[in-house]
Amino acid sequence: MPLGDTIQKLENNPLEHNGTLLEKRNGPSKLAVKLAYIESYGCQMNFADSEVVASILNGEGYEITDNLKEASLVLVNTCSIREKAEQTVRKRLEYFNSIKKEKTDMTVGVLGCMAERLKHQFLEEEKIVDLVVGPDAYKDIPNLLQEVAQDREAVNVLLSKEETYGDIAPVRLNSNGVSAFVSITRGCDNMCTFCVVPFTRGRERSRDPKSILEEINDLASKGYKEITLLGQNVDSYLWYGGGLKKDFIKATSLQQKTALRFENLLELVAKSHPKIRIRFSTSNPQDMSVEVLKVMKQYDNICKYIHLPVQSGSNAILKKMNRQHSREEYMKLIDTIRELLPNCGISHDMIAGFPTETEQDHHDTLNLMDYVKYDFGFMFAYSERPGTLAARKIEDDVPEPIKKRRLSEIIEKQQEHSRFRTEQYLGQTVCVLVEKESKRSTTHWSGRTTQNTVAVFPKGSYQIGDFVEVKITDCTSATLLGEAVGISESV
Ligand code: SAH
Ligand code: F3S
Repeated sequence: MPLGDTIQKLENNPLEHNGTLLEKRNGPSKLAVKLAYIESYGCQMNFADSEVVASILNGEGYEITDNLKEASLVLVNTCSIREKAEQTVRKRLEYFNSIKKEKTDMTVGVLGCMAERLKHQFLEEEKIVDLVVGPDAYKDIPNLLQEVAQDREAVNVLLSKEETYGDIAPVRLNSNGVSAFVSITRGCDNMCTFCVVPFTRGRERSRDPKSILEEINDLASKGYKEITLLGQNVDSYLWYGGGLKKDFIKATSLQQKTALRFENLLELVAKSHPKIRIRFSTSNPQDMSVEVLKVMKQYDNICKYIHLPVQSGSNAILKKMNRQHSREEYMKLIDTIRELLPNCGISHDMIAGFPTETEQDHHDTLNLMDYVKYDFGFMFAYSERPGTLAARKIEDDVPEPIKKRRLSEIIEKQQEHSRFRTEQYLGQTVCVLVEKESKRSTTHWSGRTTQNTVAVFPKGSYQIGDFVEVKITDCTSATLLGEAVGISESV
């Protein structure tokens, strides 16, 4: 995942820009269609949110285009997690500005975490921006567009106490028709000292299970084969009738008794769609319970894969990061996972060069990695984020070259472990859900195993969306290569 500084253009089927189709869908009055272009950066949640925004815009008579230059509304859904992510967005805004010089009627909006972090300041710093909308305020976009039309300041960065978008059916953008994300929680209460998310996405709240199941039923009826339940902290899902997680203590005793936790939701979803693969992300070590692992074990359609960020292997650093667990507790959780789910894929997020990190702390990280031998990981150099506790209280004192060197040692170690893991599959037959054509070869399909490892094999007569048994004959550190054996009975 989760938060690579990714960019992806969000596209609709170009056919849908065709006037006849629009006439059918919207009636003749909407033939003069307005076009919006959305670009998304950052985590899966941002990509899922852009699909909510697309749905809201559809309601306002906009169609989504992948051609920036023909759009009258250009939106960029931003990420603040590291400084580099913000710089990337600033560069894109410069580019949009160059286009706006010729196309003066173009409206440019900033959505997401940067909007939330910078608020009104954005309008001052980036003259090109007309619209600033935080992650909980997308329903207000229609009103804000009217403000823009009347030359008024259009900023809404209010954070919500409710899940906010449960009643909106997202418009699937850039979809392969096979895998989809479904948001189940928003916000985060963990307050890791390096992280901007609690400030930009607010306090933690969960979505009504009824609306989650409705969205999944709809995806199932459209032929989707894999659902990823999304949240900054999915294992802390708690539905007691609505409201912030932190207010659960104020709930009535009946609400407390009948509350639905993540293991209950996971079971409900898995049971209701046995032929659909269920994934979830992200798990925080302190919130991942044995109950969740037991549900994973019980249902074949819950993928045997856990993304379990650790950030550091040093107790001293974990404490300064305000992570709510020790190195030993994390290792114990890994042992429990291995015991209950011996074939489970495990990945991590790791930060190199957190303030005060010593060479010994760094070695503790490397030897924790040796202990777990993760299947893969997302690794970052520490980036100080304004407003976070770390930025306010701890000097960013690890010199850049040292951060970089430690990061490359972590990456190198991960590559060794990834190769170790992929080599374990040589000679085995695994079930792969076909998702797309391989990037490297038009004659091969690419898909993933239950452990989330990418597998590539000759297309034969198989189709996107098929579950295929693949015999693994070769591998790199990141990819399994094999031959299809037949359609799989399992998922
Ligand atoms: N719970 C979230 C975490 C979001 S942040 C989720 O859904 O994944 C994703 C990762 O970015 C973190 O796990 C951490 O490894 C990294 N990260 C966050 N803040 C960072 C910072 N200030 N500098 C470097 N990396 C950071
Ligand atoms: Fe950030 Fe820690 Fe939450 S990394 S998203 S504050 S669990």
